[in-house]
Amino acid sequence: MNHWVELDKRYFMDTGHRRLGVTLVRGEGARVWDEVGKEYLDFIAGWAACSLGHCHPVIVEALREQSERLILASLDVYTTPQIELAELLTSASGLAKVFFCNSGAEANEGAVKLARKYGKLHLNGAYEVISALKSFHGRTLAMVAATGKPEYQAPFTPLPEGFSHVPFNDVAALRAAVGERTCAILLEPIQGEGGVNVPTENYLKEVRDLCDERGLLLILDEVQTGCGRTGTLWAHEVSGIKPDIMTVGKGLGGGIPIAALLANDRAACFGPGDHGSTFGGNPLCCAVATAVFRFIVKEDLSGSAVRVGSYFRERLLGLQEEWDIVKEVRGRGLLLAIEFTKPVALAMAKACCERGLLLSPIPPQTIRFMPPLIISPQDVDQAIVILDAAIAQIK
Ligand SMILES: Cc1ncc(COP(=O)(O)O)c(C=O)c1O
Repeated sequence: MNHWVELDKRYFMDTGHRRLGVTLVRGEGARVWDEVGKEYLDFIAGWAACSLGHCHPVIVEALREQSERLILASLDVYTTPQIELAELLTSASGLAKVFFCNSGAEANEGAVKLARKYGKLHLNGAYEVISALKSFHGRTLAMVAATGKPEYQAPFTPLPEGFSHVPFNDVAALRAAVGERTCAILLEPIQGEGGVNVPTENYLKEVRDLCDERGLLLILDEVQTGCGRTGTLWAHEVSGIKPDIMTVGKGLGGGIPIAALLANDRAACFGPGDHGSTFGGNPLCCAVATAVFRFIVKEDLSGSAVRVGSYFRERLLGLQEEWDIVKEVRGRGLLLAIEFTKPVALAMAKACCERGLLLSPIPPQTIRFMPPLIISPQDVDQAIVILDAAIAQIK
């Protein structure tokens, strides 16, 4: 056990992470290094947040420049980086208004507050939000309630009320669950943490229709799927619909903490005093996110996610042909997963880590791939060689 691991075990709350056991000290592009200089190809990328890879010059330069100018102000004043990013994101999403915050969970909290206020104003006080089983929306108490995973909820009951869950990709179940008290439906366009579950083609369109029929708001949580990761700027674009409210985070800042809540004119009903944040929308993070977002668009990283993502997918399908233990390959763009026939996810991720590839296990039997959007086909080849060797060892 190295010195840092000993200290961590002494001081850090045991939330069950550090599953791979390595201590990282440096990163560049799609690669990171540990404290003894061992190199790893990073297909976790800060859980899909490091969209441009590690320490990208665009990020470093934006951080440097803005940190010399203005780091934090308050929502009592205007700051130019916030306004620039607001204009960029609203025009890129077609949604009218934005509020900035610090994490995906916080963005989703804001979305639910917005939906509840809308319910008070327009739906006779309806306040319930229906989300999906196996969903993931964050770790605050209300987002634990919104998340469709009983194992994340059990230690923290009683949970805030007003949340219910139905199976993902099941419009009939949603339709049956909508009641007098429902104000919104909250969904990930592709479930990330739940195992990279891609719904059938018409799902979102039918959910949109249901919301329109019943006057409900559709909230899409694009915290993981947004900003180019799945091959379009927003994952919902392929369904040809628009949400009323959308949350984004992770890849938006390329590694720095920023998230956003966007809403159309109908849903954007916050008034003065309804919402706030000390650090949300600070000039430093907004300047970086603006630089990252512009880079994603200018360099067409969504297009790269399509091209490199389909090459990656093909190579994973090759592994499926080669190895019986690989049950399924799922995902879109550069949000992919393989499911094994046995509960080997953690062992597989550890075996890959030993060979220099960082992967995110979803125990018991799924592994998720969310590399930086800047990876090359050669990086994919290297990952496949390592994965192949790990499968040969563990199968
Ligand atoms: C879809 C989705 N929503 C929300 C969150 C929570 O984001 P954060 O960890 O930034 O609070 C995550 C994080 O994994 C996520 O994948």
